[in-house]
Amino acid sequence: MKQIALTGLKPTGPPHIGNYLGMLKPSLELAEKFQALYFIPDYHALTTVRDRKELVTLTYQATATWIALGLNPDEVIFYRQSDIPEVFELAWVLACFTTKGLLNRSHAYKAIVDDNVAAGREEDKNINVGLFTYPVLMAADILLFGTHFVPVGLDQQQHLEITRDVALTFNSTYGNVLTIPEAVIREEVMTIPGIDGRKMSKSYNNVIPIFAPSNQILNPVKRIVTDSKRPEEPKDPDECNIFAIYRHLADADAVEAKRKLYLEGGLAYGEMKKELFALLEATFSGQRDRYNALMENPDELDKILEKGAEKARDIAVPILAKVRKAVGVNS
Ligand code: TRP
Repeated sequence: MKQIALTGLKPTGPPHIGNYLGMLKPSLELAEKFQALYFIPDYHALTTVRDRKELVTLTYQATATWIALGLNPDEVIFYRQSDIPEVFELAWVLACFTTKGLLNRSHAYKAIVDDNVAAGREEDKNINVGLFTYPVLMAADILLFGTHFVPVGLDQQQHLEITRDVALTFNSTYGNVLTIPEAVIREEVMTIPGIDGRKMSKSYNNVIPIFAPSNQILNPVKRIVTDSKRPEEPKDPDECNIFAIYRHLADADAVEAKRKLYLEGGLAYGEMKKELFALLEATFSGQRDRYNALMENPDELDKILEKGAEKARDIAVPILAKVRKAVGVNS
């Protein structure tokens, strides 16, 4: 049997270029070599989303994103986390092997504590226990399926380290029950800049969406920050926020030609923005139509996810049984 690659796309809103290049595209490539299990961690979103309708919509958006980008549900096991009850049972077991200190050191948790302290609030103000134990649930997502590889963005590296740490602790007590996973982080797409030059992220409000109507793609492209070099001046492509996106989407010859033009002079940033926009349209307009059609048809999405959950549970149930047997609960 092929080795397993598993990842989750947290439902946080329509996808942008940073999600696409950093995580979605590499994951879809890995799916050709490995048995892929890709899922929507909807219960992770419950740590922050408190509106029923919003969570429902966000979950469909994440689902439609994968399918529109080409995930083939006959090959990839594609499911919703909340359809796999075994995840939550394993999360409890793993919680018993996770020191509180390990979670205290989690970047995501520490960042909220720091905000609270900076604002003069009590350290743990507004931090629910679900948020605190988020990494344990994520470890369960991964370890429940005997996962070998986890394609993620750099921001998830620490979560993978926590997962490995917990699995090793468990195994040191009970023998080699859990498979120790490895993160797959693609260095060349580690940081896709947003239109202001900082990492592209919804929380910075600097994203270029991939499935929005054309004008909502054109506007942010026009606002990409550049220096003020005139068209005839030579420019450093590696310092340019437009080129930083363009080079991941255009074919290799086009990228080389543009690189030369930057270095020699004669290229206007305005022109380059037009080219990037045209490239985005050419790359994503077909998928955007597919995405919109899927969003109109949530029943089809539900069917796909339910079928995926059945296949996922076929893998999960025997692994959880091994864990139950190892620890000595009724099995
Ligand atoms: N924490 C991940 C994120 O925010 C989402 C996620 C949940 C995940 N469970 C996972 C990713 C398991 C990989 C494997 O992006």
